Amino acid sequence: MEKLIIPGNQIINGEITISGAKNSAVAIIPACIIAGTKIHLENIPKIKDVYILLEIIQDMGATIKWENEILTIDTTNINEKYVFSSLTRKIRASVYFMGSFLSRFKNVEIPMPGGCEIGLRPIDQHLKVFKALGADIKINKGIIKLKANELLGNFIYLDIVSVGATINAMLAAITAKGRTILENVSKEPEVVDTANFLNAIGASVQGAGTDTIIIKRKKYINNATHYSIIPDRIEAGTYMIGTVATKGNITIRNVIPKHLGAIIAKLKEAGAKIICGEDYITVIKNENNLINPLDIRTLPYPGFPTDLQPIIVPMLIKANGTSIVTENIFENRFGYVGALRRMGAKIKTEGKIMIIEGMQQLTGANIKIPDLRAGMGLLLAGLIAEDETTLTGINYIRRGYENFEDKLLKLGINLRSI
Ligand code: UD1
Repeated sequence: MEKLIIPGNQIINGEITISGAKNSAVAIIPACIIAGTKIHLENIPKIKDVYILLEIIQDMGATIKWENEILTIDTTNINEKYVFSSLTRKIRASVYFMGSFLSRFKNVEIPMPGGCEIGLRPIDQHLKVFKALGADIKINKGIIKLKANELLGNFIYLDIVSVGATINAMLAAITAKGRTILENVSKEPEVVDTANFLNAIGASVQGAGTDTIIIKRKKYINNATHYSIIPDRIEAGTYMIGTVATKGNITIRNVIPKHLGAIIAKLKEAGAKIICGEDYITVIKNENNLINPLDIRTLPYPGFPTDLQPIIVPMLIKANGTSIVTENIFENRFGYVGALRRMGAKIKTEGKIMIIEGMQQLTGANIKIPDLRAGMGLLLAGLIAEDETTLTGINYIRRGYENFEDKLLKLGINLRSI
């Protein structure tokens, strides 16, 4: 089994380039199916979740080619009766095959999606949307069957602000007859990116980035296009937080600073100096070398992202006082806290609240990674520990962070994989 050895007392220092956004890539790849033509995608991160999706779409008849960092996907010959295998369950983003197949073929049978175990992650809002657009839904032995003669536009109010349900709603509604109005939608940058991609292939999606999205059917949604996806704000936030935690300095390039508003605000509260350019951010350590304690509440965008909650907690262990973290999005996202306690952290949890005592010295430990973001958080904990930490389950980190070992090496971090 692969192990990552992380010596303690390390400092992140230097400059790196941020990759394309995982959560855009995993929505836009399935969305290519709707176009049924050749699409060129730029800035797609080379991460495990992307490779799994590409394996699935090739299996269903698409061809793919990487050339000069451009991924070309041709979905002309997709088998509309494709039988999804158990590989689909490995990855949360396979939910988007429901929206894209329904949009193009009006028919799909697919196993219930999997993904990181950070909460119940129901798909009731996705199904509510498909039903409102006229699909018939049957669920039997973990297989979801969706079928419609024709999709019809509708007014749909989402009961929960959901990234996945908003994206699936857009995918299905662009081929629905008439007009669809989606209310209480997610405003995440990856939703806006997917909407921009759909418009590039010929759809009419307006209002993405606000609470209401309006979609009108266009006769032909088969524009061949070249589309470049946005940078990954979660990867960017991870390296920024890691830098403050280890008391270093960093410049990250290929970022959209506006997408990182909540993170910039919180790191400034923690005492870091932050300089934003058009497409770069520099984080400079606090002059007095202290990290102020924080009150973090995860919220839908533009609030503090839940995906950075397990990343910022190790930093707060080093803060100069007690911090509070409230996890408002997922009900089971504190699963990694036991590992931090074993490393010496003093953390209490009560329901969705976590109280972190600052100024604690961590010691290295042998740790099994429970999920993607927690994995990266525990790696950062290893960097600030006083001696060596060993992590197993590194593939979780590879699901979402492109070349993280090379990027950390470039930032002066010493890691060993055995
Ligand atoms: C996406 C991201 C994930 C991020 C999360 C929240 C992808 C592939 N993943 O996940 O990285 O952590 O957004 O920003 O883009 N919910 C329901 N019913 C539904 C759908 C969701 O109750 O039908 C609940 C979820 O259990 C959760 C909340 O709504 O409590 C938000 O989930 P959602 O925004 O849908 O997250 P995902 O799209 O799964």
